[in-house]
Amino acid sequence: MENKKHGFGSSIGFILAAAGSAVGLGNLWAFPYKVSANGGAAFVLVYILCVIVIGSIAMISEIFIGKRAQANAVSSYKKANKNLGFLGLIAVLVPTIIICYYSVLGGWTLRFTVNSFQSIASANNAVSFGSFSSNVYEPVFFTLVFMVMASIIIMAGIKDGVEKSSKVLMPTLFIILVFIAIFCLFLGDGVKDGLVYYLKPNFAELGFSGVVAAMGQAFFSLSIGMGTLVAYGSYTGKEIKIGNATFMICLFDTLVAFIAGLAIFSAIGALQPESLKSAQGVGLIYVIIPQIFEKMGSVGQIVSFLFFAMVVIAALTSVISILEVSVQFITQKFRKNRKKVTLVMSLICFIISIPVAWSVGGAFDGKITIFGYDLLTFLDEISNTVLMPLGAIGACLTVGWFIEKKPSANPFKTLKSLQEEGIGLGKFGKIFAVMVKYITPLLMVFVEVMGVRGKFIEFGAKGLDYLPIVITALIIIAIMIALYFIFFKNKETGDNSVEEQLEK
Ligand code: PFF
Repeated sequence: MENKKHGFGSSIGFILAAAGSAVGLGNLWAFPYKVSANGGAAFVLVYILCVIVIGSIAMISEIFIGKRAQANAVSSYKKANKNLGFLGLIAVLVPTIIICYYSVLGGWTLRFTVNSFQSIASANNAVSFGSFSSNVYEPVFFTLVFMVMASIIIMAGIKDGVEKSSKVLMPTLFIILVFIAIFCLFLGDGVKDGLVYYLKPNFAELGFSGVVAAMGQAFFSLSIGMGTLVAYGSYTGKEIKIGNATFMICLFDTLVAFIAGLAIFSAIGALQPESLKSAQGVGLIYVIIPQIFEKMGSVGQIVSFLFFAMVVIAALTSVISILEVSVQFITQKFRKNRKKVTLVMSLICFIISIPVAWSVGGAFDGKITIFGYDLLTFLDEISNTVLMPLGAIGACLTVGWFIEKKPSANPFKTLKSLQEEGIGLGKFGKIFAVMVKYITPLLMVFVEVMGVRGKFIEFGAKGLDYLPIVITALIIIAIMIALYFIFFKNKETGDNSVEEQLEK
């Protein structure tokens, strides 16, 4: 790998950083309960298919777009095709929206790590979580600490910040996870019931909505459909094998999610089987799991600390990847100092996260809502249900159709030009070319349309209207397109070499 000051120093460094982006709350929290709620092993099967048929193709596309341009997301898409730079602008904005709620959850997790050693045995944890999350100051404070941690890493840059921290944090996370999983699998009689609840295949329960959920989960979990992989990909050199790296990242991400589910459901089955049915959403990780640790006595405090520290690590390595996208773009476009840009971006995200923390935690009597939604749900729906899938479709179509000078309908001609550009992929190349051009985008469009339709029904049943979410997302897209064509298309938007120059 070229030894640039600002790039990854090794393939493994890139793989661990991208895996760090992928492994997050989506794996340790969302995946387990989505499996149990959507048909167990049937969901796992469909999920793995989504990772192979859709996720890996989009991931290769995004890494490739960044790698070939060696530049921020806007410049990378622009370099692929001058009229597509707006996709890069969307890919900068969406992660920035995500930080504003993801760091609130990261902050909550931090609080549980810190509090693991406080005697919580006498307190009813459900109550203590409720009073913590609805407190006006505490969640904001922990969100701030979490953001500061992420900012320090990003300020240090790719090699000294992202790569170094990932090399330490990711192996640590995996060791803790394996330890906790083994510990939980030996908790006694109820483990089997917990595992059956987690994994018993039920295709009727899966249904089409389960398939849509699996695809959404795969996107979120693999950090696809926004600029993170483009940004990280841009810091890789010629030697990296995109196909191999993608395989490792997807495998690691899926493995972590699956093992987390084994641990969590074994523990619930053994120690609190009455909670199996309610092991969902926020309650799972912040109420039920702490209750279970309490039941383990003093050992529980250590396991609790390890568990939440692991979740903090996972969330932190994800947030740094999200923060990097905007920091990279602004640093390069406006030729500003990385540290200052990081500070400003973190501050903006932190300020927005304050009302989000109050809204989702229920401070001020839960009065902070928008169109009836708490702010976290609102931002999460805009980004994950609408913008992220569109970003992933955009990445595949860019590589499949628009990156060539003379696009042709023949996937093998496309492959040839992609290979000349250095996509590699070996024997897998032919399959990739057909997938990226036709199959993956079509599947994604189909599932996306059905998914949004399902959301209208799901939220409609709760008395909420989904239209404002779709309209807000469309307005965001329209604004990004307009901004791009007015301000960025014909202007210099910088590349990674700018960061090298700025240091001189
Ligand atoms: N993949 C992360 C998770 O599973 O929690 C979340 C995430 C990270 C989403 C980075 C998006 C992103 F760009």
